[in-house]
Amino acid sequence: MLILGLESSCDETAAALVRGDRTIVAHRLAGQEAAHRPYGGVVPEIAARAHVEILAPLIEQALAEAQVSLDAVDAIATTAGPGLIGGVMVGLVTGKALAHAAAKPLIAVNHLEGHALSPRLADPGLAFPYLLLLVSGGHCQLLLVEGVGRYRRLATTIDDAAGEAFDKTAKILGLGFPGGPAVERAATRGNPAAVPLPRPLKGSAEPHFSFAGLKSAVVRAHAAGRWSPEDIAASFQAAVVDCLIDRTARALETIDGATALVVAGGVAANAAVRGALEALAAKHGLRFVAPPGWLCTDNAAMIAWAGAERFAAGLTDPLDTRARARWPL
Ligand code: KG4
Ligand code: ZN
Repeated sequence: MLILGLESSCDETAAALVRGDRTIVAHRLAGQEAAHRPYGGVVPEIAARAHVEILAPLIEQALAEAQVSLDAVDAIATTAGPGLIGGVMVGLVTGKALAHAAAKPLIAVNHLEGHALSPRLADPGLAFPYLLLLVSGGHCQLLLVEGVGRYRRLATTIDDAAGEAFDKTAKILGLGFPGGPAVERAATRGNPAAVPLPRPLKGSAEPHFSFAGLKSAVVRAHAAGRWSPEDIAASFQAAVVDCLIDRTARALETIDGATALVVAGGVAANAAVRGALEALAAKHGLRFVAPPGWLCTDNAAMIAWAGAERFAAGLTDPLDTRARARWPL
């Protein structure tokens, strides 16, 4: 089985070819950081126009790298939401056009399902059910992944996502864009105990998340002028890690039978987050699975893989499937 995957829901344009046996035959990705940097964040209209220009050449490059034509592909999987609607439409319309022209099935993938199943692409031994911490720029959720298309949401954020908090902190501290990696780099040169910052919802019974208050505290700490950006970054990152661990530990108390603790989404690329989760898993006698960094941030291999899992389960979608800005898993 060979699946072509397309991704264009935010500011990465990507195309990949993945086999049912988990071989990533080709993957191409073009980030748009330079185009958005002057604005300090992703500008939806600029992103959508860039996807239009870049996606078709990336698909051609991926097919050339794999030395196959579209005829060799069994199905075309494309992100159909959630995300910036202009970008989602570019990928979905492209996927539909290819599916129609080559008479191949279309698989409309929920971007969150791409993240949720990506650990199974990285680790063949990862079996259902597993507890997934999905931490990205738009989402912060704890999910019990019970099977393909079977996701039980245990918790979500009541305000900002963890990645959003990283991005806003980077902006406040003038560390640049994209924010997550910039904060992580600055944090390596700072003292995580320097700045007293809150741990919102820590210890509360439901394993939900909240980061808005932490962001406000970062604004106040920066305005106070007492601490370096490096110390604030390190203290902020330590607070986020504490919250993620406390909330995940709470969720672990409420579930039975999970085979592993798994993390995915852009923030899972953060070494401090990964290290702390690995220790938590060890404490609970659970396997810990985290995809490699490039598979945590947005990419098309995870969309192709989610497509492969859905295709194997007999799930395909009609050509009139609509793009969705919001689409809870
Ligand atoms: O999954 P993703 O690529 O896109 C979404 O679906 O949102 O996640 C992007 C988010 C951004 O907020 C980015 O700042 C964050 O992931 N991120 C990181 C790191 N790399 C990316 N956050 C913390 N540390 C990192 N190393
Ligand atoms: Zn994502």
